Amino acid sequence: MHIRPYQPGDEPAVVALWRECGLLRPWNDPHRDIARKLTEQPELFLVGVLGKTLMATAMVGFDGHRGWVYYLAVAQAHRDQSYGRQLMQEAERLLIERGCPKVNLLVRSSNVQVIEFYKRLGYTQDDVISLGRRLIPDQDNFGDGYVLTTDIS
Ligand SMILES: CC(C)(COP(=O)(O)OP(=O)(O)OC[C@H]1O[C@@H](n2cnc3c(N)ncnc32)[C@H](O)[C@@H]1OP(=O)(O)O)[C@@H](O)C(=O)NCCC(=O)NCCS
Repeated sequence: MHIRPYQPGDEPAVVALWRECGLLRPWNDPHRDIARKLTEQPELFLVGVLGKTLMATAMVGFDGHRGWVYYLAVAQAHRDQSYGRQLMQEAERLLIERGCPKVNLLVRSSNVQVIEFYKRLGYTQDDVISLGRRLIPDQDNFGDGYVLTTDIS
């Protein structure tokens, strides 16, 4: 797998991959999520390609205190071949390069089976409760107010 930063022509393949991997949510417009990421550390929006096939993504960021990883995805057909691990290793390498001391990530409560994957990579569960508040609704009918962890990633 070749890992490189996202390029503009990648958008349809990225959104299709996220859909296949079950990462799309009604309150997150993937096109807007991509456009926003391109305004902040676009070089940390990683895609994995095999030949001409885009088959993996990781949206990485460093906020000056912690590193974050969103939209980690490996296409079904390419799972269990260490591509997810490789992508996370590259994410960590890029964060360390920027002086980031710790990386965090959120797992939806509907996706607890993925926790075993992260444990294999040395991640441990932090004793935290994650809160979020939507600032810009991506849907006209999105409700205002505080939302649970499952809504904020
Ligand atoms: C999570 C995901 C990225 C893993 O990608 P992958 O390329 O299949 O993972 P790897 O092959 O690198 O696996 C690394 C290790 O984790 C283990 N592992 C991977 N998925 C696992 C699972 N669902 N359950 C238990 N172990 C798992 C592998 O067996 C491997 O273990 P080993 O190194 O001890 O042999 C992929 O399953 C995926 O895209 N899932 C859907 C999207 C998603 O949930 N993303 C995370 C959002 S928080």
